[in-house]
Amino acid sequence: MNIILLGPPGAGKGTQAQRLQADRGMIQLSTGDMLRAAVRSGSPIGLKAKAIMEAGELVSDAIVSALIGERLDDMGQAGAIFDGYPRTRAQAEALDLLLAERGRCLDYVIELCVDEDALVERITGRFTCAKCGAGYHDVFKRPKVDGVCDLCGSTEFVRRPDDNEQTVRTRLAEYRAKTAPILPYYEERGLVRRVDGMGSVDDVAAEIDAILDS
Ligand code: AP5
Ligand code: ZN
Repeated sequence: MNIILLGPPGAGKGTQAQRLQADRGMIQLSTGDMLRAAVRSGSPIGLKAKAIMEAGELVSDAIVSALIGERLDDMGQAGAIFDGYPRTRAQAEALDLLLAERGRCLDYVIELCVDEDALVERITGRFTCAKCGAGYHDVFKRPKVDGVCDLCGSTEFVRRPDDNEQTVRTRLAEYRAKTAPILPYYEERGLVRRVDGMGSVDDVAAEIDAILDS
């Protein structure tokens, strides 16, 4: 099964993708994570992407589609969870091609719907494990033991440079202008399922599971 998690910054795409990966053996393909890894490594892609990401704008379609293509080639037959990709009509069309070339198809596009005020609160409270990348929140998802990652036991956590209120506003504007308009592309094919992203992490997970098991 191959699914897209679509939603604005902070909607919970990464949280649900990590959970699906752990529960179902699907693989999370997050272009945001791939780009952040490129920035950390100082690769040519990372050097191009750094300032764009810190401003909250979108990296070029060609770069992100190439990253997804490489990852699809490496992952064998496991199901894919596209997290933060596609974000433009050109990326949606590129993904169709990448999947068709590999004999795959899309099963669902799950739209996570969350109020904008909640998004800012979620993003500004977010932090992740520096070692394994597990995601947490100051209020909504603290580690079970304060200061210790639930998954790997690391005590080092990081916050993203683009998780400040001003950049979040730009990221939301980019979502409204460029990403939300791709929904009709998938609606025409009957692939879109809407999920109320305002519930708890477990409630949202249950709604997604019901769709995937239907
Ligand atoms: P990316 O990394 O994709 O960021 P994003 O889309 O802005 O999404 P986020 O990671 O901020 O949010 P999320 O929906 O994953 O929420 P999360 O689960 O963490 O992209 C970053 C940048 O890279 C872009 O701005 C762009 O520059 C570039 N980029 C990436 N992909 C690109 C592409 N395809 N094309 C061009 N450029 C691209 O949850 C947020 C917080 O809320 C967490 O702390 C979590 O614990 C908490 N939380 C989650 N669910 C709940 C819940 N149900 N209740 C309460 N709290 C919750
Ligand atoms: Zn960890």
